Amino acid sequence: MIIDAAFRADPYPTYAALREAGPIHWSEEFFGGAWLLTRHADVEAVLRDAVRFSAQRTGGWVMQSRAARSELMDFQQLFARAMLFLDAPDHTRIRSVLNAGFRNDVLQQFAPAIGQRVDALLDAVDADAGFDFMQALARPLPAEVMAMLMDIPAADRGDFIAWSDDLATFIGAPIPSLEQARRARTSLLAMSGYFEQLVPQRRHASGDDLVSRLLRAEAAGDIQPGAELLAQCAMLLFAGHETTRNLLGNGLQALLADPVSWQRLQREPALLPGAVRELLRFDSPVQYTGRRVTADLVLHGRQLRRGDLVVALIASANRDPARHAEPDRLDVARRPGGLLSFGAGPHLCIGAGLTLMEAEIVFGRLLRRFPRLQRVDAQPRWSGNAVYRGLGALPVRQA
Ligand code: HEM
Repeated sequence: MIIDAAFRADPYPTYAALREAGPIHWSEEFFGGAWLLTRHADVEAVLRDAVRFSAQRTGGWVMQSRAARSELMDFQQLFARAMLFLDAPDHTRIRSVLNAGFRNDVLQQFAPAIGQRVDALLDAVDADAGFDFMQALARPLPAEVMAMLMDIPAADRGDFIAWSDDLATFIGAPIPSLEQARRARTSLLAMSGYFEQLVPQRRHASGDDLVSRLLRAEAAGDIQPGAELLAQCAMLLFAGHETTRNLLGNGLQALLADPVSWQRLQREPALLPGAVRELLRFDSPVQYTGRRVTADLVLHGRQLRRGDLVVALIASANRDPARHAEPDRLDVARRPGGLLSFGAGPHLCIGAGLTLMEAEIVFGRLLRRFPRLQRVDAQPRWSGNAVYRGLGALPVRQA
């Protein structure tokens, strides 16, 4: 697998070639070497198998060089405490605290406010003259929604976006540079500091926001004070940005590139919930994730050693013809079962329901308000991040 400019512009031919060549490949392009899994069945099986494949994988990532070890130690210690990188029982304990904040009835309470913010952001654009969809909506909205769920000021969204971008650049680099690691460290510590100064004021609050829930769990002994608490706050603030932004951007880009689909959704709005899932399948906002092998094992005839890194190519799995008929065709009426864009198993994205709700609100509004929306550029402007595939800009206008 070669991560070059052509791959960053369109990774799907590479994934198809890898899938056809076999289910598992060794690649030196990831953190000193990793096993790449290309097929739907294997990606799903690995993500569901938390016994043989551990989510604890930040060490080699952050501590890439001896020179960086002492400098990045505080970054690694905080980063590694986020639930995303933990196994049972710690993962299970923290996840059950947070699950309550993402229940459907809780999320539904936010739907009207999200709709209002989407309308306000769209009121501010001049669709006839043209606007950049990423700048006008896809970048600010996810930050504002996370601010609502955490009950923190949306006015700070500029900081949230900048910190999240630094972390995303680091996570998205198959072999991060020292500079990228340093910037990610500074931003993660800034996020943690932000919540640290918020905690004393929030400690006795009885609200239903995610920070108050974590603090009540801390008081009950279910979350450890200090790094564990702050790591979850930072993870929540970060996790919903680049991902949701890229679903909105990649999704609109795919729909406008295929006017038949765009028009069909206008005629048949009931298709929208399924169409959002299809957009997630078609161009996955998280292209891959990783796991560490917990004990030597043989997979498709290859010997995997304890500690080896496995890269589960979610975006390839979503285009596996063994799972999805005509996988390279966008079909807004498809009901894509076995969607892996939110992962699978114990770490299945906790924000999936929120994301689906947010995306349906955005695409619903766009279809109604701007039925003749068109792309301005002939070629999409991909940002080039290998994990968080998305657009740097998406200029559009109403014809
Ligand atoms: C398009 C939007 C999104 C996509 C594609 C996405 C994708 C994913 C994926 C693939 C995972 C699993 C990673 C793994 O197993 O290694 C995950 C986990 C997670 N996501 Fe999302 N995500 C999205 C939006 C969000 C939002 C809005 C939040 C907001 C709270 C969020 C919070 C999380 C958290 C906290 C985890 C860790 C869950 C755990 O470890 O149990 N995500 N997400």
